Amino acid sequence: MTRLALVTGGTRGIGAAIARRLAADGLRVAVNYRGNEAAAESFRHDTGIPTFRWDVADHDACQAGVREVEKALGQAVDVLVNNAGVTRDAMLHKMSLQQWRDVMQDDLDALFHMCRAVIDGMRAKGWGRIVNISSVNAQKGQFGQANYSAAKAGVIGFTKALALESARKGITVNAVAPGYTDTDMLAGIDPQVMEGIKAQIPVGRLGRPEEIAHAVSFLVDERAGFVTGATLAINGGQYLA
Ligand code: CAA
Repeated sequence: MTRLALVTGGTRGIGAAIARRLAADGLRVAVNYRGNEAAAESFRHDTGIPTFRWDVADHDACQAGVREVEKALGQAVDVLVNNAGVTRDAMLHKMSLQQWRDVMQDDLDALFHMCRAVIDGMRAKGWGRIVNISSVNAQKGQFGQANYSAAKAGVIGFTKALALESARKGITVNAVAPGYTDTDMLAGIDPQVMEGIKAQIPVGRLGRPEEIAHAVSFLVDERAGFVTGATLAINGGQYLA
């Protein structure tokens, strides 16, 4: 049976590129999104990929959402890509509790919620692929991102632990750590700050969402069964972990 992939935050940016690529690779694909109906509508229209709305920060919504996807598509999720995430940049001395919590809940708690919803099915089947999107800023730290750097570093630790637990069950769990990639997430950064960031990227440009999707495609392939617990850095040379 054709494998079913679920991509969170999959209607825009890196998530949309991943969803399109996995569909082009021949997988069945479903995507989750939180609230941007216009983006979801245009993604559905362009790709024909079904979209499902829930908040990955909500544990119960994740359990219900995954069951809904599985019911609609008639099979269990084989491939999970935890891509949804947010930034709430501020220096720590100006950071609110809400800015801290938003990022921890969306970028780290969501991994527990989503993996918990699919892991039993993967273990029962003896096959699964989980890819968690981390960040270069987890590896190097980033001015103004104590929340995001902490959550995305947590993603890497989570990935390693679950990889160990899952290895004997045919499930691989890996992380991808993108550098600065050309998506809406960069839109809020001051242009002058952005110029400074670009100057730190040896390749001399931002990453493209398709370049991150290419790595995910590799990691979820049948032939990547010996790759687990890894963090693949895709950052134009900005940080060499
Ligand atoms: N390193 C050292 N000092 C810095 C600095 C840096 N990177 N950035 C700013 N400063 C300095 C400033 O020069 C300034 O110094 P003075 O007080 O001497 O003038 C001081 O720190 C305060 O800077 P700001 O006035 O800019 O502070 P702010 O509170 O207005 O803004 C900020 C802080 C919102 C964090 C802003 O600096 C910013 O947007 N930084 C970029 C954060 C970033 O890279 N986010 C990534 C988002 S994309 C993403 O996260 C995806 C991914 O995975 C890669």
